[in-house]
Parts: sequence; structure tokens; C-alpha cells
Amino acid sequence: MNDRTSKTIVERKHSHVEICLHGDIAFNRKTTGLERFEFEHNALPEICFSDIDLSTTFLGKKIGAPLMISSMTGGYSEAATVNQRLAEAAEHFRIPLGVGSMRQALENSAYRDSFAIVRKYAPSVQIFANIGAPEIAKGLTDTEINIMLELLEADGLIVHLNAAQELFQPEGNTDFKDFLQQLSIITAKIPVPVMVKEVGCGISASSATRLIEAGVKVIDVAGAGGTSWQKVEEIRYTRQFGHDTRFSISALEELLNWGIPTAQCLLDISTLKKEHPEFSTIEIIASGGIQSGTDIAKSLALGAHLAASANGILKALHQEALEATIETWLNDLRAVMFLTGSASIMELRQKSLILKQ
Ligand SMILES: Cc1cc2nc3c(=O)[nH]c(=O)nc-3n(C[C@H](O)[C@H](O)[C@H](O)COP(=O)(O)O)c2cc1C
Repeated sequence: MNDRTSKTIVERKHSHVEICLHGDIAFNRKTTGLERFEFEHNALPEICFSDIDLSTTFLGKKIGAPLMISSMTGGYSEAATVNQRLAEAAEHFRIPLGVGSMRQALENSAYRDSFAIVRKYAPSVQIFANIGAPEIAKGLTDTEINIMLELLEADGLIVHLNAAQELFQPEGNTDFKDFLQQLSIITAKIPVPVMVKEVGCGISASSATRLIEAGVKVIDVAGAGGTSWQKVEEIRYTRQFGHDTRFSISALEELLNWGIPTAQCLLDISTLKKEHPEFSTIEIIASGGIQSGTDIAKSLALGAHLAASANGILKALHQEALEATIETWLNDLRAVMFLTGSASIMELRQKSLILKQ
């Protein structure tokens, strides 16, 4: 990578945070679908609210609550502060954390500290490295894999699938050929589990099948209904080039809202797991538009092991309300557990949801 490409990545990661905080980037024609479901009220909970236990396990490790801080940032100077705060919150709640794409750190050592800082402030929780599908498709060297894992003392590698984002990105890389073959090589040789996530367009049952067959252990659906990365990149595109003439007006609206809603991904992948007992150990993360503890609770009842959030967490951090927001979400979750008579996360995951009329 030359200096110009590296500078573009730094600027892009910086502008992503700014646009996610202040831009109009929500899906406007689609929701997560979680609002279509509700739990049946249990008038006889037979549990004491103060005994409710939010702890659960993820990839064999006990964690404080079924929530993860989604991959966001790193690779420019101010990212160190963001990652430090996210790491402090992850450590406080004993929940897993993903860092943003480490492509920049592979090419240039300038901002590696902005990634490494998370391990310093979150010494005891699971931390995940992150790289994009186009880099996997090109093939990663052993040295590159080691840099990512060692910088964080990572518990796993997250690979993000972001075809729609790359399509809209002014400087996007739309070469996804050979991805699955290269992914299989990596899952077979690295010493930690590989998780694959989307970034807001969701993962279907058929994509999940191919990912599991390629050796992936965790699928984070990152479905539609929260942040639209097409919209984030469209803002960057129009800032650079003015009006977007790449697509017709009606297609543009549809493409900006492209994707499978989060609840639909969970339903489809849960059904897939039931039909394929050999997939039973695969863990599922619900993300894309998670905004409260009721969203987390419904996600678990739809088959997720954890829920995860990016933009909601980033906004809370910006408003200096990070820990308070997470605490509120966890209290929402406790409320649902009380009203469904679920003393543990395992019990909540067995509750069925009613589809509202
Ligand atoms: C500022 C920001 C930067 C992001 N950068 C990355 C990234 O580098 N790698 C990645 O896998 N996902 C990245 N994401 C996507 C999120 O991890 C998540 O999948 C997506 O935003 C949908 O979740 P949400 O609706 O809770 O925001 C980023 C999200 C935000 C808000």
C-alpha cells in the first residue's frame, strides 16, 4: 500500500465516525423487524428480580451480559481515545469487544497503538481483531495475521462482509472473488476462532451455510434496520462528487435500503441450525439496529447467543453516557426477564415470541 492509500484509509475511518454521529444514516424504508414481536406476559414469574443473572458464556468463556461492543474503529490518532473508552466499558461490564478494520495497521505502524490500547484497558475480556472481505479475498500472509492477533492478544478474528458498502464507497474495492476459498485457508490455520459479520445488510441462511462450511465458528448477522453503510458512503460520495449519478433515482432509494432485516436473519439462521444438528455449536450474534435491552431480549429468544451494537454505543460515548446507556439496556433486559419469569439467560433464550398482528 502506498502513502496515498494509507492516508485515504486514515481519512475514511475518521469521517466514518463523524458521519455516524451526525449524518442521516438510518434505513428509512426498513426496520430491524424486532418490533413485530413481543413476549407473552407471565403473571406468575416465581422469581425475585434481584436474583436475575445476566451472565452467560460466549466461545466457552463466562461473560457479564449477552452484549458485545461491535467493531468500529482504530487506525488514526483520535481513535485511541475512542477505543480506550470502549475498552474501559467492556472491562467494566465484562463483555466482548471488537476493534475496527485493522487494514491500516497492516500497512503502516503509525497508529498501531490506537488498536493495542484496547488490551491495556480491557485486560480480562474477549477482544476481536477485524479485517474486511476484500483483504481476505486477496490472501493474507502469516505475518499479517500475526500482527493483527498479537497487537490485541486477540481471542478471535472477525471478518466483515461489506459488499454494499464497498459498492457505494467512492474508493471501494468490489473484488470479492475467491473469498470463501481464502477464508477456508485462514480458518484452518489460525489458532483462534473466526467470526464473520455483515455491517448492516444481514446474512441469509444460505450464506451462513457456506460460511460454516468454510470453518467459521460465529456468525454476527449485522442485519438491516440500524446503520445503513450504503448511506454513510453515499454521504462521502456526494461530498466529493456532488449529485450521485451512478444509479437511477428509484434504484438509489432501494439500494440505500438494501438488506435483510436483523430479525429475519435470526429466524432463518435459527431454522438452519435446527435442520442441521451438525451446526449446533455455531454461535449467533444479533446486531444491526440494537437500541435497547428489549431488542437484546427478543434477539436471544429468536436464537442469538448475544446481541451487539455499534452506532448506539458510539452515540452514547459521544454524549458521555456510555456506561449509563449500557446499564439502562441491561436493566431493560432484567425487566423482560422478570416479566417472562426467566432467572437466567438460558431460560430467556427458551421463551417463545408472539408475532404481533
Ligand atoms: C463508526 C463506525 C465504524 C465502523 N467500522 C467498522 C469496521 O471497521 N469493521 C466492521 O466490521 N464493522 C464496522 N462498523 C459496522 C458495525 O460493526 C456494525 O456492524 C454496523 O454499524 C451495524 O450495527 P449498528 O446498527 O448497531 O450500527 C462500524 C460502525 C460504526 C458506527
